[in-house]
Amino acid sequence: AEEIKIGLLGLGNVGTGVYKILLENGREIFHREGLELKVEKILVKNVGRKRAVNIEQGILTDSIDDITDNPEISIVAEFMGGVDPAREYILKALKNKKTVVTANKEVMAKHWHELERVAGENGVGLYYEASVAGGIPVINCVRESLQANKIDKIMGIINGTTNYILTKMSDDGRAFNDVLADAQRLGYAEPDPTADIEAYDAMYKLSILSSIAFHTRVHIDNVYREGITGITVDDINYGKELGYAIRLLAIAKKRGKAIETRVHPTFIPLNHPLAAVKDSFNAVFINGDAVGDLMLYGRGAGDMPTGSAIVSDIIAACRNRGRHRYSTFYNESVASEDIVFDNN
Ligand code: NDP
Ligand code: HSE
Repeated sequence: AEEIKIGLLGLGNVGTGVYKILLENGREIFHREGLELKVEKILVKNVGRKRAVNIEQGILTDSIDDITDNPEISIVAEFMGGVDPAREYILKALKNKKTVVTANKEVMAKHWHELERVAGENGVGLYYEASVAGGIPVINCVRESLQANKIDKIMGIINGTTNYILTKMSDDGRAFNDVLADAQRLGYAEPDPTADIEAYDAMYKLSILSSIAFHTRVHIDNVYREGITGITVDDINYGKELGYAIRLLAIAKKRGKAIETRVHPTFIPLNHPLAAVKDSFNAVFINGDAVGDLMLYGRGAGDMPTGSAIVSDIIAACRNRGRHRYSTFYNESVASEDIVFDNN
């Protein structure tokens, strides 16, 4: 068996889930894959803080160099969030020939081509399944399992926090701020929850997902965005009286050379499958010309579901060593020469 030394960047909600999965399923992964996945170092902001899991002495560090300059570490998994310094740390890891696995949709949506280019130049991998829809393997599904198709539509709920807020306001009549505090306590919300409630998070995710589905770079500036802060319990109740539920929907359509991408609160009929998606669950409808309609459903946020995507990416990265794949559109100039964005 082979020992793979891993450096983790972050030990918050997602990092704790990753650590727990490696502890609980490490032996099974070892027997199945012949891989001993060993967490060598974990970068945190505050080394002295009490943690939700027991961590061996000497593993926590507040210096990125302990990870990026350690030649024994071959995989770096990032879930610290934000762009600075996450982008710099990911680039440093890639340049030092470490494959990177990330849950960070903001850094991916804003700096994808740069990260992918540097990964390609250094012959290492960049994996980001956890960045969209938590535990739902939607990126792999679109990129691998549906590659025979021309995809013309993606529609879904891809933010767990706002879905949790909208469904608790609707089912329990609770106030917005009260339910948001719950979503933060449960580890669904972003470190700054403005990203969730103003739909920046869903915008980043739709940019990533539609870029993969439509084989062109859909930049965040091409995604219309509107959050849920203006929605009251009264709005939700009026909707219900008329037979509708409110959901924050992410919609991407391709018609010929025109791409339309938008994220906003939407009334949907109460008998629509998306109206049954509650709490932090996510669901994504995809239409491909060969497969027809397809729907994926599962937990879109939280420590263990997101940890599932991260650890699966780590295993995939080990299997793919020496033959990592890169998105063909990472060079911005290749993208969308004759594509028209229509998001208004
Ligand atoms: P948390 O705030 O719970 O955790 C962040 C971790 O990163 C903490 O351990 C923190 O250290 C560490 N950290 C933050 N900034 C720095 C820094 N400058 N230097 C060193 N360490 C730092 O966030 P989450 O785990 O909830 O989310 C992390 C990432 O995962 C985000 O990109 C998010 O979008 C993504 N994600 C989150 C999901 C979720 O359900 N929560 C789901 C899918 C993706 P310390 O503990 O010392 O403060
Ligand atoms: N804050 C995000 C959400 C985490 O609520 O969906 C998962 O990406």
